[in-house]
Amino acid sequence: MSNESLVPIHVAIIMDGNGRWAKERGLDRTEGHRNGIKPVQIITRISAKQGIKFLTLFAFSTENWKREAKEVNFLFHLFVDSINTYMPELHENGVKINFIGDIDPFPQFVKKMIQFAVKTTKNNTRMVLSIALNYGGRREIIQAVEKLLLLGKTHEITEEVFKQFLYTKDQPDPDLIIRTGGEKRLSNFLLYQSAYSELFFTDTLWPDFTEREFLQILQEFSKRVRKYGALK
Ligand code: IPE
Ligand code: IPE
Ligand code: MG
Repeated sequence: MSNESLVPIHVAIIMDGNGRWAKERGLDRTEGHRNGIKPVQIITRISAKQGIKFLTLFAFSTENWKREAKEVNFLFHLFVDSINTYMPELHENGVKINFIGDIDPFPQFVKKMIQFAVKTTKNNTRMVLSIALNYGGRREIIQAVEKLLLLGKTHEITEEVFKQFLYTKDQPDPDLIIRTGGEKRLSNFLLYQSAYSELFFTDTLWPDFTEREFLQILQEFSKRVRKYGALK
């Protein structure tokens, strides 16, 4: 029996646990990040196959700058290398690459890659892969308010109007947010958009996250009853 209508339209993932994965193996934290690329590739492929229309991955938060420069720099290079490596496959599969967050503070080579990936894949329609880089939900909301104030009070501020000032203006809210790595918090991810998202937390560390577990979560999602405050 086809469960297609119960496939979430938008899935967002907090990919956590890379550092602990490395520590368990006596490796440097950066090895955890390197091993976190494979699941990104797998989950992206399965998502497109399942008919998910929007996949948003939390890759770097506005608070992650607090880490050592060595780790932050490693992550920048890993983003660029991974996008370069996987872009042909993503493009071939009709995936449109999008970035959410404040990319201003990033080094030029990262910005160049972002622009290139967005431009190359801009006409693809099968699925939108959004990578959250230097993303913070509070910063997003504050920037939206700043832009609105600059415009002056020209019209009523409804949810529809406010949404136009968010990074996610072209996307529906996430139906499902998954966090790996065992922590039960949002860590500043999609604060405004997660109002009615179904939340899933798994202890699995991100580098160990598999297709099988992802499909199990999708299955469980399909059984959740969403009420949006009404009686059902
Ligand atoms: C998530 O893994 C990836 C990023 C935040 C970039 P962590 O690096 O936070 O891994 P843990 O939580 O220390 O295990
Ligand atoms: C959230 O993970 C950010 C990303 C996955 C990119 P963190 O590891 O930064 O979150 P905290 O510090 O445990 O809340
Ligand atoms: Mg973490």
